[in-house]
Amino acid sequence: MRCVLVSRSLDLRFYLGPQFMRAADCIEIVSHPHDGPATDVRLAVAWHPPDDAFERYPNLQAVCSIGAGVDNILACPSLRPDVDVIRVVDPAQAQMMSGFVAWHVIGHQRRFATYQAQQREERWQRLGQRRAQDVPVGILGFGEIGRRVAADLALLGFPVMAWSRTAKQTPQGVCSFHGTAGLDAMLGQTEVLVNLLPLTPETKGILNRTTFARMYRGGYLIQVGRGEHLVDADLLAALEDGQLAGAALDVFATEPLAPGHPFWRYPRIVVTPHDACEVSVEAIGATFRATAEAIRAGRRPPHSIDRERGY
Ligand code: NAP
Ligand code: GLV
Repeated sequence: MRCVLVSRSLDLRFYLGPQFMRAADCIEIVSHPHDGPATDVRLAVAWHPPDDAFERYPNLQAVCSIGAGVDNILACPSLRPDVDVIRVVDPAQAQMMSGFVAWHVIGHQRRFATYQAQQREERWQRLGQRRAQDVPVGILGFGEIGRRVAADLALLGFPVMAWSRTAKQTPQGVCSFHGTAGLDAMLGQTEVLVNLLPLTPETKGILNRTTFARMYRGGYLIQVGRGEHLVDADLLAALEDGQLAGAALDVFATEPLAPGHPFWRYPRIVVTPHDACEVSVEAIGATFRATAEAIRAGRRPPHSIDRERGY
């Protein structure tokens, strides 16, 4: 069996490293575009594949993402509807995300940005403290990562709410919401909004003027889903009129964020370069091996996404 590495944004051979290549037992790994017999390629590892990437491989059965998200693979026009798309589920990634989100939630609660500004002016002024239990957090997306983030924030004492598509049993300290009515109900009680949704036609643009208007005034946005979830102009308007006090943005519709984009220099926006958390190469390797094993055995690979649902 052959596996093709396909990306227009990353050198996957370098990114995955020699250990990954060695661990791929009895599978020849080639880079796209592959000159040899394309009919032998049954597996691909991809991240932002070029539009025509999969046209060459008529016997392709599965495409593995190198991350939790698969939106960039599903967006590829040459991906046939019968090909399985597999994402990585990595508990270590969820833990890293949890730390990243907690950093920003606590930063908002403890007014770190204001203290940093005061330091620059050599100003010694206590701002007063707010208890975690007085800062309600709403999480959009209650999946592999959202669940870990919710549980950890609840342990830190924040009132935590989480929104998903389907109804959920939630751990202690987390309140669950689902569907459109659930979203409105959760936003009405949310001060800090964390976006951990996959990008699908239903979730695109969900971080918009209406969403922000439903939150507590002076709220905070932590955007770690995908850039296309956010309507950039609506965020700037919500910050300007005080509906939002600040935002931490890790993902952007165009990455890298374009030079001169207003987010770079907006004083109450923190920009990080899509670095909230990444999956380990070991986890990618384990996903890849499980996928290859399933294909050989004629089974559906684990962590195959639902192509209809888009995640
Ligand atoms: P996941 O396990 O697939 O969970 C997705 C969650 O979103 C589920 O709870 C799902 O609801 C919910 N959802 C999907 N569509 C919805 C809709 N229309 N309405 C309401 N809820 C909806 O995904 P994950 O592993 O937690 O990852 C989530 C996302 O985080 C990724 O897709 C990616 O965009 C982002 N991410 C970003 C970074 C970064 O570095 N910034 C790193 C990793 C991941 P159900 O439970 O009802 O299905
Ligand atoms: C990163 O954004 C991921 O999807 O893992």
